[in-house]
Amino acid sequence: MAALMKVLRHVQELRWYYLAIAICSVLMAGTALASPFLLQGATDHVVAKLQGKPSATTTIIWFAVGILVAELLNALLSNVGGYFGDVMTMRMRAILSARYYQKLLKLPQGYFDNTLSGTIIARLNRSITELTQFLQMMSNSFLPMLITLGAALIITGYYYWLLAVLLVLIFPLYTWLTALTSDRWQKYENEKNKHVDLAGGAFAEVVAQMRVVKSFVAQRRELDRFTVEYAKTVELTRPQSRWWHQMDFLRRAGLAIIFFGINVLILVKTMSGEFSIGTMIMLIQLVGMAKMPVANMSYLVDSAQRAVAGSRDYFATLQEVEEPGASLDDDLARAPLPEPIPGAPAVKFSDVSFGYDDEPNVLEHISFSVDPGHKVALVGESGGGKTTIINLLMGLFPPREGSIEVFGRPYDALGLDLLRREVGVVFQDASLFSGTIEDNIRYGAPDATEEQVIEAARRANAAHFIERFPEGYQSIIGERGLKLSGGQKQRIAVARAMLKDAPILVLDEATSALDTRSERLVQKGLEELMVNRTSIIIAHRLSTIASVDTIITLREGRIEEIGSPAELAASGGIYSQLLQLQLSGTKADRKLLQQFDILR
Ligand SMILES: Nc1ncnc2c1ncn2[C@@H]1O[C@H](COP(=O)(O)OP(=O)(O)OP(=O)(O)O)[C@@H](O)[C@H]1O
Ligand SMILES: [Mg+2]
Repeated sequence: MAALMKVLRHVQELRWYYLAIAICSVLMAGTALASPFLLQGATDHVVAKLQGKPSATTTIIWFAVGILVAELLNALLSNVGGYFGDVMTMRMRAILSARYYQKLLKLPQGYFDNTLSGTIIARLNRSITELTQFLQMMSNSFLPMLITLGAALIITGYYYWLLAVLLVLIFPLYTWLTALTSDRWQKYENEKNKHVDLAGGAFAEVVAQMRVVKSFVAQRRELDRFTVEYAKTVELTRPQSRWWHQMDFLRRAGLAIIFFGINVLILVKTMSGEFSIGTMIMLIQLVGMAKMPVANMSYLVDSAQRAVAGSRDYFATLQEVEEPGASLDDDLARAPLPEPIPGAPAVKFSDVSFGYDDEPNVLEHISFSVDPGHKVALVGESGGGKTTIINLLMGLFPPREGSIEVFGRPYDALGLDLLRREVGVVFQDASLFSGTIEDNIRYGAPDATEEQVIEAARRANAAHFIERFPEGYQSIIGERGLKLSGGQKQRIAVARAMLKDAPILVLDEATSALDTRSERLVQKGLEELMVNRTSIIIAHRLSTIASVDTIITLREGRIEEIGSPAELAASGGIYSQLLQLQLSGTKADRKLLQQFDILR
């Protein structure tokens, strides 16, 4: 219950709805309670008449009309309350979902690297659905019943104290048995949820990567992986449900015994003449009304337990540690970038060491700086930590040791939003969104004009192919840009970064999927963009980085050399080795082509 109160407190905006629902509930209970009393009056009149005492028929009719009015009012109030309940529930759902999303948007990259996206989504759905369903049920039907129960207690107590005592006995019995049921039930439920989340995670992943699944003919395997998880939930449901129903039988048996006692008391008291027939009928009806919520209690307890489990997941996510200084402040996102500190390098890594999660360091003692307007290339073997350096530069992960400065400011001082706005990046995988081409290019600058979008596309050598699509810039490109070729995706990603127009440009294998001719064209656009702009370039094709000012080579997570391309070409380090390999490669290619008479 404490967990549910927490939810209600959490969504205080809805307090007027809570109040409206409570008022409707009280009024509803009032009208419901009127019926037994009217019936009592009517019965006593009938009995009096039968016993030969004077009694008018019209009085009886008035009692019947009273009952009719009470019922009509009750029906009206229950629907008005139901309306408030529905709206409250939906608003609660909207609020809880938005809070969850807000929270997720502020969590560090590490959280997403370690949690399947399907799991995150399943959790959102389950927790919030269960919470809101419970609250809806609670407000639409249970609250009025609870009030009826309270009133029934007072009224029966007024007629005969022992009746109230018996009714009250139900509560400790029920809470005790429920607590006993709940603990074990909850454990099963958590276990089940884990499997459902795993299945959901696997499902979302497969749907998103159907091509890969099909190409490896892995459908059967994936289906098995999915069904195994659900099979486990069925296995867990058996003992869980058995336990619950055994306990429910106990609870109901207890209830039946208590009501047996109550009925006996009422009947005996009537026989002995202490209660009139009217009172007997009234009490029996009242007790019947009190019985309903109690009998429903097991259902309520069941969904309350689900809701508690759901709210636990929900609040656990809300407790996750956010990125330092994470905000969704729109003003901050539009504030002008601070002036660079004069003389400071654009990017400076000082003795930075870093590893992911609890794993060993990927980067060791990395120190380098990039002067404003300079072009720097990172060269190193695959898995050497080049992308990791970019991740650190964007503040996606905090370094374990050392510090990073951008235009003379440590990134803590700059704040993550500003830091990220300083950097325009083309990721190694193009990472587009569903939607139109224009939406995607505009992602970097939502306020850009149409001309600017087209200009960016032109410089990224994308305008040509975009204009060939029947829908042009309005073409829908599918989830993650599924409907585009690898090279087309990359060019859109380049255009997106160009439009962002950030002071620092990062290209992580930005043109790796392009053929040599297209790459040259994109390169031309990029070079235009890189004039007077600090640029960090990662490329496996060394021709792409021949014109940079400085090359930094990485070997086993450490910096091996820093120097100009000319210096490093002769130094015998990793760059010169790669250069040798690529040159001999092209020579061999040339020979091969000559053999086939292609190149003469
Ligand atoms: N999100 C992550 N979580 C855990 N480990 C990671 C993560 N990303 C990368 N790594 C590990 O860090 C190391 C460096 O990876 P990184 O992506 O920086 O290499 P890279 O130099 O960019 O390689 P490539 O040239 O293939 O792109 C790798 O061993 C990789 O397994
Ligand atoms: Mg990489």
